[in-house]
Amino acid sequence: MKILVTGGAGFIGSNFIRLILNRRPGWDLVNLDCLTYCGNLENLKDIEKHKGYRFAHGDIADRVTVDTLLSEGFDAIVNFAAESHVDRSILDASPFIRTNIEGTLILLEGAQKYGIKKYVQVSTDEVYGSIENGSFTELSNLAPGSPYSASKASADLLALAYWNTHKTPVVITRCTNNYGPYQFPEKLIPLAISNVIEGKSIPVYGDGLNVRDWIYVEDHCNAILSVLENGKVGEIYNIAGSSEKTNLEIVHTLLELLGKKQDMMHFVADRPGHDWRYSLDDKKIRRELGWAPSYDFNRAMEMTVDWYKQNDSWWRRIKSGEYSKYYERMYHHR
Ligand code: NAD
Ligand code: TYD
Repeated sequence: MKILVTGGAGFIGSNFIRLILNRRPGWDLVNLDCLTYCGNLENLKDIEKHKGYRFAHGDIADRVTVDTLLSEGFDAIVNFAAESHVDRSILDASPFIRTNIEGTLILLEGAQKYGIKKYVQVSTDEVYGSIENGSFTELSNLAPGSPYSASKASADLLALAYWNTHKTPVVITRCTNNYGPYQFPEKLIPLAISNVIEGKSIPVYGDGLNVRDWIYVEDHCNAILSVLENGKVGEIYNIAGSSEKTNLEIVHTLLELLGKKQDMMHFVADRPGHDWRYSLDDKKIRRELGWAPSYDFNRAMEMTVDWYKQNDSWWRRIKSGEYSKYYERMYHHR
């Protein structure tokens, strides 16, 4: 099995590549990533010389790059590559349109042209928008609330249109908020942990009562593997962590795990258009593919805090801007 993983130098993609190399020895993975500010080859340092792995530096929104690579012959594509941070999409939506929509289109065209057998579009619960009570199923309407989620919803619609029109074998996964090793420290959990270790307070948007459902990244990666191997083409699978928490609950849990006083946080201006609550019904993937999350929330949060404590050089380099130098060394001068 030869798979093109896009965006594999980011948070979830790098965890997915490590999981596949461990769980599916014999598979060949090519990681296509253009290394934006959050793509980091350090995330893959332990496996960069693995015989089943190769890095290809390039942009999914560049047709020639994608075409050249796919002409090698692949069985499947798993598309993680994206602009992924809501706050950045509020400041400037253009990169989100280019990568998340145009990039997906180019990958779909390539999948069609080169006879890819399975195309997994890694999407998000945010495409359904906010929900006051209850949970969204795969049949719920799309109502994205941010430029980020609007770009992801557009990509999902394109993928479904390719299935409908060309029978391109797409499957879409929509997952809730991930946490775990190698998450870029601008997202709530790694930002909070690293701030506290640095002796800084945690900024909480608005009143801190917005709700997210949290899943440990390895559980998400296992779900994607199930969908890649057994998911039905043309279908959508919700993936949930079954751990809905307010942002204040997350911050309190982290402060407790870090042994700090609960006042090491402060309220800041709310995010414009801040989605109130995300919640998914994931009965379909449980019923049809037999997947379920295996990590307990409290235990996985403890593991996550330990990882950021033990790997402080990883996030300190990013926070101090030194990662760009690493990238120069690793890639440009090779
Ligand atoms: P991330 O921002 O950590 O990583 C994104 C990766 O994509 C980076 O390595 C980046 O360099 C690469 N990339 C960006 N633009 C590219 C381009 N044009 N060409 C090639 N590579 C490019 O993101 P993440 O948190 O790992 O998310 C991965 C995917 O999972 C995204 O599609 C995101 O929408 C989805 N998702 C994330 C979460 C979450 O909680 N993080 C939840 C559900 C779904
Ligand atoms: P984030 O990790 O950016 O993920 P998303 O917006 O995709 O859910 O944010 C998670 C929640 O935490 C969200 O409700 C916004 C909030 N938040 C803060 O309160 N403070 C912060 O510094 C950040 C980055 C997020």
